Amino acid sequence: MSDAPVICVRQVQHTFGSGETQKQVLYDVTLEIMPGEIVIMTGPSGSGKTTLLTLIGALRAVQEGSLQVLGYELAGLPHQQLVAIRRKIGFIFQAHNLFDSLTAYQNVKMGLELHAYPAHEVRTRATAMLTTLGLAHRMHAKPHALSGGQRQRVAVARALVHRPKLVLADEPTAALDKDAGREVVTVLQQLAVEERAAIMLVTHDNRILDIADRIVNMVDGRIISDVLVQESVAMCAFLAECPVFAQLTPTTLSAIVDKMTKERHTTGTVLIRQGEVGDKFYLIRRGQCEVSITDGQSQRVVNTLGEGDFFGEIALLTGGPRSATVVTTEVTEVYTLGKADFDATLEASASFKEQLLKVFFQRQ
Ligand code: CMP
Repeated sequence: MSDAPVICVRQVQHTFGSGETQKQVLYDVTLEIMPGEIVIMTGPSGSGKTTLLTLIGALRAVQEGSLQVLGYELAGLPHQQLVAIRRKIGFIFQAHNLFDSLTAYQNVKMGLELHAYPAHEVRTRATAMLTTLGLAHRMHAKPHALSGGQRQRVAVARALVHRPKLVLADEPTAALDKDAGREVVTVLQQLAVEERAAIMLVTHDNRILDIADRIVNMVDGRIISDVLVQESVAMCAFLAECPVFAQLTPTTLSAIVDKMTKERHTTGTVLIRQGEVGDKFYLIRRGQCEVSITDGQSQRVVNTLGEGDFFGEIALLTGGPRSATVVTTEVTEVYTLGKADFDATLEASASFKEQLLKVFFQRQ
């Protein structure tokens, strides 16, 4: 696992035009994006976001400063090498440039053509990607027969089907309704977790700001803020909505949040194994987990838990071993609380324990 940044921009300046009409659009831009990071870039139109995105995407020549992408310095690189780097990047741009004479499936296949995969893998990947994006039934339609939102999703599928280590997206959810937008966002999150891909999005869509690890704000060609998303604020708001924490005072709530850790897991991760010693309590931020119990030879699924549900409380309450196995069934984000902090919360709040037991008995 490499921890070198995927994008490293140092003091980049950029100017359009010359002479009287010359206009500087980027001033001293410095930015780093690490593997697995999802960064959202916001700012008014004309602030330089798209210029920066196209520079990072090797679609424009670097004029001044240094710009490293996927380990290559782009400044001064010959055209042919820039083209080779572009192929490693997943681009989701607004003008999606689908081929009108090709079906959705054939368009997505194009995204794999430069990567020399065996034919069966091309078929599997293209089909799987379109299915994930809710287009299984439109696979053989041509772009003119698709809605704007469907075309946008085909473009997303084509950009991501080769599982790039870097995705650059300009308003990827703009043409999409809430559910389709979430599907796109989920695919991006999966890529960030599973491939440790860096994802850089330009967006004004408030509905997706919550996926960002960092938000970079640009105004007049400069980065005016680059902040780690205040996860604690989001956590507090989320906890306050969960019945098990809803009774707590804001002070207790923020004390818990300070002790919680956010974890992101890929599909199929075993979070808890039946019979082991309990060390943490889990709350699902988003995603889904399956709870199963092994009894002799047979294993049966006893429950499916989703956003806002918690688990892992029984072993901590009883001191006994884990009573079930919990596995993620999609990319899942959880907040965890270590045993000592869990015990302290129980002591601080009788209603917390009451709620835990209430849910426990409801589940039986
Ligand atoms: P624990 O025993 O610490 O670890 C496994 C967890 O699975 C357990 O806590 C509960 O949170 C959860 N669990 C066990 N049985 C069920 C069930 N029938 N329904 C939902 N969750 C369960």
